[in-house]
Amino acid sequence: MKRILVLIALLGPVCGLAAKTAAPSIVPAPQKIELNKGSFNMKGVAINCDPAMDHNALRAVRQLADRLTLVSGKLSEVASPIGLQRAVAKGKIKGLYFLQDDSIAPEGYKISVEPRATVVRASDFNGFYYALQTIRQMLPPAIYASEPAPGAAWRIPCCEIEDAPRFGYRGILLDCCRHFFSVEEVKKVLDVMAMYKLNRLHWHLTEDQGWRIEIDKYPKLTEIGAFRDYTIIKRDLNSSDGQRHGGYYTKDQIRDVVAYAQARGITIIPEVDMPGHMVAALASYPELGCAGSAPYKVLTYWGVSKQVLNVGKEETMRFLEDVCSEVADLFPGEYFNIGGDECPRDEWKTDPDCQAKIKELGLVSDENASAEARLQNYVTARMQKFLATKGKKIIGWDEILEGELAEGATVMSWRGTKGGIKAASMGYDVIMSPNIYCYLDHCQSTDLESEPYCITQKPERAVTLTKLYHYEPYDGMDPDSVHHILGVQGNLWTEFIGTNEYLEYMLLPRLLALSEVQWCKPENKDYDRFLLDLDGHELAILEKLGYNYRRPDEIKK
Ligand code: ACM
Repeated sequence: MKRILVLIALLGPVCGLAAKTAAPSIVPAPQKIELNKGSFNMKGVAINCDPAMDHNALRAVRQLADRLTLVSGKLSEVASPIGLQRAVAKGKIKGLYFLQDDSIAPEGYKISVEPRATVVRASDFNGFYYALQTIRQMLPPAIYASEPAPGAAWRIPCCEIEDAPRFGYRGILLDCCRHFFSVEEVKKVLDVMAMYKLNRLHWHLTEDQGWRIEIDKYPKLTEIGAFRDYTIIKRDLNSSDGQRHGGYYTKDQIRDVVAYAQARGITIIPEVDMPGHMVAALASYPELGCAGSAPYKVLTYWGVSKQVLNVGKEETMRFLEDVCSEVADLFPGEYFNIGGDECPRDEWKTDPDCQAKIKELGLVSDENASAEARLQNYVTARMQKFLATKGKKIIGWDEILEGELAEGATVMSWRGTKGGIKAASMGYDVIMSPNIYCYLDHCQSTDLESEPYCITQKPERAVTLTKLYHYEPYDGMDPDSVHHILGVQGNLWTEFIGTNEYLEYMLLPRLLALSEVQWCKPENKDYDRFLLDLDGHELAILEKLGYNYRRPDEIKK
């Protein structure tokens, strides 16, 4: 980031970060910011919005005006004057202006702050929305609260900001299956994603341990599949917490969450994980299983189950199509995640339907893939075709690369970076979410004893704040294929995360580090500056908003 003003105090070692910079704390750091002398008063500011502006963006501006009025104690009003663009061009303006500017890249924005007038330009909803997030971040943290703070300095520094994201896909995966989280908590996750300019929620909705989405045609998925009898304690297969656990989202709740996300510039991508990770569905409809596999029970323990769908049966494929059809209708985005990870194919080796299907399709084992792996390719290809009829493109975990994969699929690289590097070199679009850097269920410290119990019990598997921050998605890639990297995602699996407090603790502040991986060009990243921003501002915001977070080791209490 280009910072014209020098740091007022020495940054020095990052421990005991008493120093403050003159630059405002903006996370993720903007691509370009030039600070100038002076400031602009936001208290009682008159706001002028271009009538051509997106109406949802206008609503977001009104929300900022209402909040400013509340916290500063002085009325901020929004008007949409005709001839606004001309007035701004002539330069005789006073107040805060929002202008439609189609020359600005999607999701990008410009903010020009002068002592008398501030002008914001963007071309789309997300651009305006992100400019508003940046303005909020330049204000005191009290802007995030609802208590009046009329004595605070409601001013933003004079500056010129030009900003746009490095990657179009900036995601978080939320696993609501291993543990169920309420609509309110999902919205709280969406709120903090939006503040830090993330724009995709990958919603993991089906699993061995719980089915979480209402499907009209298959009511037993939620009557039976949404609940497990108990949960083991840590990894002790002989233990039980003695509590039935479960829940699911009704279709109305899903619509509500989708709209809530849209109002924050976030697209939700549903995942229906298939053909493995389906034990909750099999407990609901055992007829979809392989020969000799029953009985089924919604799993009470973690790991990969050998019990998988019988994809040799047409009835099972209809089930998948029917379920995906109902799910696709609820989510307006262009992508649908079909999972595809960790599907043991042992049951298919002995199941007569699967073997008959392998024969019918002429699938053979060779040095590249087994006939059973090719049977999974058939499921992927068939679902890809089916979902295309619903206007959706598929995303799948990197296992979908084994054997053959049709054009147009997007690969999510989770078993390290290898899968993503290979997929991009083969011409597939890729989302990088390598477990070594991006798994938010991994411990945040190498000192495991000091942390709550988490999925990784090896210090070297820790995903510390600094490790995540320094992840570079193009590392190891052929420069000719980097254009296939759509973006980066952090994955919050919840085997060992059973409460809202712990969920937030694992998410924060790593989500902020992730936001800089996703948004900033490498030359604009700076870990010391990032820590100063956390210490001086961002942690105070999280506190104001009532989030539980882990205090970084580098920042003293
Ligand atoms: C995964 O972590 N099994 C995608």
